[in-house]
Formats: sequence, structure tokens, C-alpha cells
Amino acid sequence: MTSDKTVSGIRQADDAIAHSHGSFFGRRKGHRLRAHHADLVDHLLPRLAIDIGQSAPAIPTTLFSPQIQNMRLEIGFGGGEHLVAEALAHPHTGFIGCEPYVNGMAKILAQIEAHNIGNIRLFAGDASELLAWLPARTLARIDLIHPDPWPKRRHWKRRFVQDATIAAMSRVLTDDGEFRFVSDIDDYAAWTLAHMLRSPDFVWTAARADDWRKPWGGYTMTRYGAKATREGRKATYLIFRRSPAQ
Ligand SMILES: C[S@@+](CC[C@H](N)C(=O)[O-])C[C@H]1O[C@@H](n2cnc3c(N)ncnc32)[C@H](O)[C@@H]1O
Repeated sequence: MTSDKTVSGIRQADDAIAHSHGSFFGRRKGHRLRAHHADLVDHLLPRLAIDIGQSAPAIPTTLFSPQIQNMRLEIGFGGGEHLVAEALAHPHTGFIGCEPYVNGMAKILAQIEAHNIGNIRLFAGDASELLAWLPARTLARIDLIHPDPWPKRRHWKRRFVQDATIAAMSRVLTDDGEFRFVSDIDDYAAWTLAHMLRSPDFVWTAARADDWRKPWGGYTMTRYGAKATREGRKATYLIFRRSPAQ
């Protein structure tokens, strides 16, 4: 039987993790990488990686070459299915993909190489650190698709969507920029809606139920989305627009 003391010890440990790890609480490494994937991580990733140890460029679009018209960010792209499809569909937009899980990074590098994609830059760390590094009013859109749900109440503080990360996203989004969120975990969708609605910086764009029950036009299903469908869970699709600064 678990004593109260043990439970509170675990809670204290959880609090310490929550305090010391920013917004990332998952695995950074999975199975050993195949030789070619390891080679891409060693040689292609350094060419595409954003280095937040350096100060951010005064004109952030210069992160991309050739020049792009606007910039977007996908947080926790997993296997990269959605990010790759968006980058191919919008060649004049620069995409930053953020994913701390090295096996996901290796997968997207293989796709970038196979499709010769030139408009993706990568950050292999915690998105909240990247958001803090980016200059204000930089991004036209941020996507957060099937984020880790952390269903237990004592882990809710690990969810990516928090008042602080909403404020950080608001700072880097352009006026009329969008935050798009997808989850198959109803409780996390409700949590996100409640947190976003209490932010003065965003409006929810939905006009009818199908706007949140169905994916937006051109949406590419991800691996986690497909798994949710197989297991009988329906996803919720939320689009928030940043209100112009007062
Ligand atoms: C449940 S998976 C979903 C992956 C993908 N979006 C999909 O739909 O298949 C969540 C992903 O978010 C990443 N992640 C978790 N916390 C993060 C953070 N603070 N910054 C960036 N990525 C994060 C994890 O490494 C994981 O790959």
C-alpha cells in the first residue's frame, strides 16, 4: 500500500521536475538510430538547427534562405507528417519545427532530404525556450497537434498550454496570427479552450460546431491522430486568432 508520505514525496518530485524542466517532460531518445538517420542527425541537423545560444537575427526571416514571406512554427511535430506536408504546400513560408525527441528529428531529416525541402529549420529542444528566444511579432501561425495530454490531475502543470506559454505565444505572433490546436483528449481540448478564452490576447474563431469537430481545410493527419481514430477517439480542432495589440 502506498503511504500518504510516499504520495506526497512523489508529488514533491513532480513539482521539482515541473519547476526544473521548462515545458518538456517527455523522452529525448528512443530506439537506436539506423546508420543513415544517425548520419543525418550528425551532418544535416547542424545545417538546419536554430542555435538559441546566439542572439536572434534582427530580421527573423533571414533565418531562411532563399527569403520567405512569413514564418510559422509547429511544436512537437513527432514524425513530421503535418509539418512536411505544410512545408511542401507553402514553399514561400518558412517553417520552424520544434521536437526534442531525437527519433522524430531523424525521421523529419530523412523526409527533408528525400523531398529536397528548403523551407524548414529545426529546433531540437523545448518550445518554450524557442518562444522566449524569438523576437516579438515574428510568427504568422503556431500549430500544436496532439500534444502530450498528461491526463492525471497532478500532471496538468506539465501540459504545454498554460497561461505563461499562451502569453509567450501571444508575444511572438503577428497581429492576426493564429494558434491552432488539435487533441483527441477531450479534457485537454476543454482545458485549452478555457485557458485561451481567459486570455485577452486571443479570440476563438469557430462559428459553427463543424469548425471544431472537423479538421480545417488541407489538414494532414498525423501518426497520433491516426492512432486516436483507430482507437475510436475523435479529435477537436481549435483555431485562435491573436487580437491586434491595444
Ligand atoms: C503525443 S506526441 C504528438 C506528435 C505529433 N504532433 C503527432 O500528432 O503525431 C507529442 C510530441 O510533443 C513533443 N513535446 C513535448 N513537449 C514539448 C515541448 N515542450 N516542446 C516541443 N515539443 C514537445 C514530444 O517529444 C512528442 O513528440
